[in-house]
Order: sequence, then C-alpha cells, then structure tokens
Amino acid sequence: MSLEIVRRIAETRDAVTRFRRAGHTIGLVPTMGALHEGHRRLIETARAECGCVVVSIFVNPIQFNRTDDYERYPRALDADTRFCEEHGADLIFVPEISEMYPRPQRAFVEVERLTEHLCGKFRPGHLRGVTTVVAKLFNIVQPDRAYFGEKDAQQLAVIRRMAADLNMPVEIIGVPTVREANGLALSSRNQHLTPAERENAAVISCALRAAEAAVRSGARTADEVRAAALSVMARRPEFRVEYFEIVDVEELQPVNEITGPVLVATAVWAGTTRLIDNVMVNREGD
Ligand code: PAJ
Repeated sequence: MSLEIVRRIAETRDAVTRFRRAGHTIGLVPTMGALHEGHRRLIETARAECGCVVVSIFVNPIQFNRTDDYERYPRALDADTRFCEEHGADLIFVPEISEMYPRPQRAFVEVERLTEHLCGKFRPGHLRGVTTVVAKLFNIVQPDRAYFGEKDAQQLAVIRRMAADLNMPVEIIGVPTVREANGLALSSRNQHLTPAERENAAVISCALRAAEAAVRSGARTADEVRAAALSVMARRPEFRVEYFEIVDVEELQPVNEITGPVLVATAVWAGTTRLIDNVMVNREGD
C-alpha cells in the first residue's frame, strides 16, 4: 500500500478507522520531522509489530521554551515524506498549528515529580508541552502501540507514567538509541553542529561510558560516578555541561548511593546547540 498524507484530524480518524476495520493493529510514531536513522529505527520497529504504521510530524510550539530554538528547528517535509514512504509507513499525519491548536490551549497534561529534575529543571514547561501534545495525538490516532526513543529517557519515562496513571489504552514501547559510529546520539539538532563539534561531541557518549564503567567497577556513590564522567567531559572544555545527573529509574529523583538500576543523563551545550544523552546502568550482577 502506498503512503497516505493527511493534514486534518477528521481525515486521520477516518483513515485509521479503515485500517482498524480491516483488522490491523495501529502503531503510532510521534515525531517533529527532520527524520534520521533514530526515527527510522522507531518506524521499522512499529512496522514489524503493527499492521498500520502512522507517523506524525509536527513541530509542537508548546514544548519549546525558547523561541529561537523553535524558529530554527529543522523542517524538511518533502524529504520526510520520502523517508516515511521508503521505510514503510502507511499514513503520515502532518497537521498545521491551527489544526492542533485552533484556540488557546487551556487543558494540559502534567506528570508530577518525574519532571522535577534533568531537562524538566532546565526547560520549564517543555515536558508539559510534550505530554499534552502526545495525549492529543493519542486521542486523535487512538493507537494500540506508540513508539518512543530511549534517547529522550525522561520523555519516555514521563509518557509511560502519563499513560499508566491516566489509564490510556495504549502500550508504550521504548526503542534503543541509534548512534553515529563515533558514539554521538543522532538528533535532528545535530544539523546545527559544525563538523568539528560533531566529531568532538563524541566525548558525551565517552563520558556516559565512563560513568557506566565506574558503576560496574564498584563505585557506589553518585559523586564518584559523576567525577569519573566529568573528568572525561573536561577533555573538551568547549562543551558546557548543563547537568550530569544520576537518578532512580522509577521517579527520576537524584540518588546519593547507587543501590539499584539508575539512569545517568546529561545535557551539554555545543555553542548554541543543546545535546542530550543518557545510559541506563545496572550494577554488575544485578
Ligand atoms: P523528535 O525529537 O522528532 O523525536 C521523535 C522520536 O524519535 C522520539 O521518541 C525520540 O526519542 C526518538 N529519537 C530521536 N533520536 C533518536 C535516536 N538517536 N535513537 C532512537 N530514537 C530517537 O521527541 C520528539 O520529537 C517530540 O518531543 C515528540 C515526542 C514528537 C512530541 O512532540
């Protein structure tokens, strides 16, 4: 079947209903476009598990806390359309802002506590904008499954908690992070990096690996683990570390002692571009 492109909510509902009546499971991959190999992994995972794959492409204004970031966010609809077709999507939903927000939005979905630290602390309103738009997309598409990258670990945890706490009838699937050969996690924002920044940004995943190695070789306090990682980051002083946190995997609260699985997450500025990455770490033998 060929790719269908829909811009209106009503048409999306009709198209999805047709697939559902034909007995297909509906998989949703929400994106903001400028699609890359990370998105591809999500689409392919959905394709393997669902009879109908819907990709949404919408640069959601309410999740941007800086207008310059919103304005320069890469937009590439023609290339994205071809990309979705090539990788087997059935439907792309590409709404205008006026379709998603026809009047000032007065209803929001907020997940408490899990949004207090990490990006939640430095990007006020960002995660509320994400959960709100994702809840809207769930209500529009009514997917059986929805696919999100582990690259945005806090986003994934917050969406999982939203769906669980609000009894949303959708299964949330996490997909592993896709990286460049040098370890840099793929991101639409990487387009803003200079070639040198792109190469040197490999230091971020090196620092995360150092954190992981520290835990595995016996470090039991967050301070020790952070010190090991930050000494790696210090090799590239041109990158400014916004946060480097070690949190528990349930409520994303900072931990002092490492007694179970933890999420090690960081945000780093390369010039005017903000990069995030993370690793989930278990103690050896756990
Ligand atoms: P966007 O940044 O376009 O990412 C869409 C999805 O792709 C997210 O689930 C993200 O975690 C995943 N992704 C991005 N880079 C990845 C990588 N290198 N490896 C694996 N997965 C990756 O995240 C958003 O859009 C928005 O916040 C959205 C959820 C669409 C709500 O507006």
